[in-house]
Amino acid sequence: MFIDSHCHLDRLKLEEFNNNINQVIKNAEQASVNQMLCVSVTLADFPSMVETTAAFDNVLLSCGTHPLNQGDEVDQKQLHSLSQHDRVIAIGETGLDYFYAPKTKQVQIDSFRKHIKVAKALQKPLIIHTRDAQQDTLDIMREEGAEEVGGILHCFTESWEMAEQAIAMGFYISFSGILTFKNAHELREVAKKVPEDRILIETDSPYLAPVPHRGKQNQPAYVVEVAKQLADIHSLSYEEI
Ligand code: NI
Repeated sequence: MFIDSHCHLDRLKLEEFNNNINQVIKNAEQASVNQMLCVSVTLADFPSMVETTAAFDNVLLSCGTHPLNQGDEVDQKQLHSLSQHDRVIAIGETGLDYFYAPKTKQVQIDSFRKHIKVAKALQKPLIIHTRDAQQDTLDIMREEGAEEVGGILHCFTESWEMAEQAIAMGFYISFSGILTFKNAHELREVAKKVPEDRILIETDSPYLAPVPHRGKQNQPAYVVEVAKQLADIHSLSYEEI
């Protein structure tokens, strides 16, 4: 059995699934992907995400605002109240992305801090997106005491040094289909160093379809390709991974 630790089911274009999300869940189950964590990217879209996934016991949720969706300042009270929903098992995705949005740096930092505060208040783990912002991400995690709740660095593409420090704070490292990309040699080296009991796998669907599904819309069923790649990297069997 596999778990897709990070997908955006509410962002899928359903035309290729007979306009029905049931088909996406069925495809996943047929590939032995029996649980999925559907990750929120804006508070405004959270209620409809809850609705879209309501029929599926094997779909759990997070609540938060993605660092690239910082149009408005995050309302900490609203984040707290929405995150109390009983299907919400994690806070995020939050974090810092200086690669795509260096100009909103300060807004991202403020939002990240609020997410950590809410995670601690509700005792739910964090889902952290980090790109080209290693030092600030780690500093804020330390300053705000993220260690108290732990969580994951999702769709990880940064250095081993960063992974190591996050692991020391009790965090897990989640790898996506990027691990299967031809040019991802460095990332595969990082993945090799991450202890097996600190690794999670994800699709980040509908984005980042793994090899051999490049160019298609990504879906939770494809997380098995990430598992296969990791098995290879760690010299484990598919069953072990
Ligand atoms: Ni995501």
